[in-house]
Amino acid sequence: MDHFLYRDGQLMAEDVPLAQIAAEVGTPVYVYSAATLLRHFRLFDEALAGMDHLVCFAMKSLSNQAVLKLLGDAGAGMDVVSAGEYMRARAAGVPGDRIVFSGVGKTREEMRIALTGGIRQFNVESEPEMEALSEVASALGVVAPITVRVNPDVDAKTHAKIATGKSENKFGIPISRAREVYAHAARLPGIKAIGIDVHIGSQLTELDPFEAAYRKVADLTEALRADGHEITRLDLGGGLGIPYARDNQAPPLPLDYGDVIRKTVGHLGCEIEIEPGRLIAGNAGILLTQVIYVKSGEDRDFLIVDAAMNDLIRPAMYEAHHDIVPVVEPAPGFEPHAYDIVGPVCETGDTFARGRSMPRLAQGDLVAFRSSGAYGAVMASEYNSRPLVPEVLVSGDQFAVIRPRPTYEEMISRDTVPEWV
Ligand code: LLP
Repeated sequence: MDHFLYRDGQLMAEDVPLAQIAAEVGTPVYVYSAATLLRHFRLFDEALAGMDHLVCFAMKSLSNQAVLKLLGDAGAGMDVVSAGEYMRARAAGVPGDRIVFSGVGKTREEMRIALTGGIRQFNVESEPEMEALSEVASALGVVAPITVRVNPDVDAKTHAKIATGKSENKFGIPISRAREVYAHAARLPGIKAIGIDVHIGSQLTELDPFEAAYRKVADLTEALRADGHEITRLDLGGGLGIPYARDNQAPPLPLDYGDVIRKTVGHLGCEIEIEPGRLIAGNAGILLTQVIYVKSGEDRDFLIVDAAMNDLIRPAMYEAHHDIVPVVEPAPGFEPHAYDIVGPVCETGDTFARGRSMPRLAQGDLVAFRSSGAYGAVMASEYNSRPLVPEVLVSGDQFAVIRPRPTYEEMISRDTVPEWV
């Protein structure tokens, strides 16, 4: 459930008409619903009730300061994958002891920043990384808490570009080598292995792969404990999928996911962390855009909108489907028309949908790309020198621009021309 619904024939973001935001901020623009973000966060929090746990928002999915502060104030931790994300989380007031640091390629500088600023744990993905962290922490005179990310070789049954838990993926260490790696960790100064980390992929629409992975983690916990390691924390990653198409069967709910966690690892007495991103942010945001032209091609009609692949890259990159809905509610029983919905960028890849059935639309009409809150604004660029897409946060009947659209001058002034040119 989200808070983008029609009321009196107008698509609203909570109690704010999207048409009003378009008029005041312009398009394209991302619009987020605070109530939806908080609701989704709480669903996970409640799903883990009764277990010692922390829900760490995977802020790679949406990292605006206002969103981080909203979730952080509600008690969320953060899953970060770069020093930039770490700094963003801290700037939004999230304490270091609620931040976990993931990622296969942390640099020594990033380790230093997190260790100096305070960190809950590093999710280490390789032995060279473990050795580097040991050196950096030792030089700083601290002990870094770590989990080792294991690769359970489980098929997440999702898009190849976002599957991470198969042995051919670059992530984690093979679970078959885990005992050796923990023994190695125990010999190194400056680090202490306190848990296990696993993340098998994103947009998972079934629970079985989670269950298979978590069972392997449970077995590994027991094996490592038998080897003398104190395993007190399990980071179970993110990945629960969302319904992108309204008419599709809905993926499992956080509550069912919580039951899988309870069933597979609940008996181990470990502190549980999860790292959801998409399910918290995805359906909490839309991308609002305006039709520039309706163009008749030889055998099809094109809706040319003012959002493009640089604003929302998911369709171009993952063949992702986003429901696209008009801001003015279609009349019941309207005659649908098929459109190719495209942006102004100069490549064919800038296509959001082909043959999409819509009510008839005209120049100036507003449409919303649903389910765009996650991996939308964060993956935007200025390709074709289109100023970075702005963001708006709505709460009840109020809204605020939480990242303004840069002016052309601001965009251009970031470049510098050396004297010798
Ligand atoms: N934890 C780790 C270690 C991850 O790599 C990810 C996502 C998450 C948590 C959060 O997963 P989520 O709950 O959001 O599924 N850009 C792609 C998605 C990339 C996901 C990368 N890792 C897209 O637009 O579909």
